[in-house]
Amino acid sequence: MAKSPHLVVLTGAGISAESGIETFRAADGLWANHPIEDVATPEGWAKNPQRVLSFYDARREQVRDARPNAAHRALANLEALGFDVSIVTQNIDDLHERAGSRQVLHLHGEIMVARSSVDERMRYPLGRRNIAMGDVCDRGSQLRPDVVWFGEAVPAYQEACELVADADLMLVVGTSLAVMPAAALIHELPLDAQCVLVDPDPGLQVPAGVTRWVMPAGEGVPALTRHWQREGRLFVPPSGNA
Ligand code: APR
Repeated sequence: MAKSPHLVVLTGAGISAESGIETFRAADGLWANHPIEDVATPEGWAKNPQRVLSFYDARREQVRDARPNAAHRALANLEALGFDVSIVTQNIDDLHERAGSRQVLHLHGEIMVARSSVDERMRYPLGRRNIAMGDVCDRGSQLRPDVVWFGEAVPAYQEACELVADADLMLVVGTSLAVMPAAALIHELPLDAQCVLVDPDPGLQVPAGVTRWVMPAGEGVPALTRHWQREGRLFVPPSGNA
């Protein structure tokens, strides 16, 4: 039986922007207001863990108040219709899952999960709670957000490479492609596969051969999935042909 075509979607903060969650590198973005070294590095954690916990508490509340948008829903709907859709996200929010997507790989971790600061296998879903100083794992060590910080390894990267290497079509949505190794995934795509990128920034540097749809995710992703549903196949419509 022929293998059904495989769509691999790489998402970044931009796919959650229309849900009200700020991106990182916009002029008024997260990193403009919070020094990365203080809140998203092991050194910042060692120096002032409470500051790190407070930073993620504020982002976790923003995620809890957010709702999946049309782009998240369009991808979940495509999967529900029987298309083979694998999402590889750099985002730590749970909007893909809340939209209904079931094949979601978090490259940079999940803000709704806590983990031991000495054994990353010890993970604790947070539900409605946050992480406080004194919350400890089963081995008595302080809990931290289950998020990959700058300078830390990306354990899910190998699995992400295997997904992209198996793709017939890759969709890249809402990422500045500024952070490795996630940005290198696009180069794992087989030579006979195609890639389409949805992002409103006309100045974004993208690799040769990538078709660009210069528009917000909430407009471009549903337009693409409508094409695929109508035709019953994965392909790249002419650029911007919403
Ligand atoms: N629709 C689609 N894309 C959008 C939208 C939108 N409505 N609004 C903004 N964007 C685009 C921006 O043009 C930019 O290219 O989203 C991208 C956001 O880029 P970044 O802020 O750099 O976010 P991201 O690429 O996800 O960052 C990658 O860096 O700081 C680390 O761990 C963090 O996962 C993050 C990683």
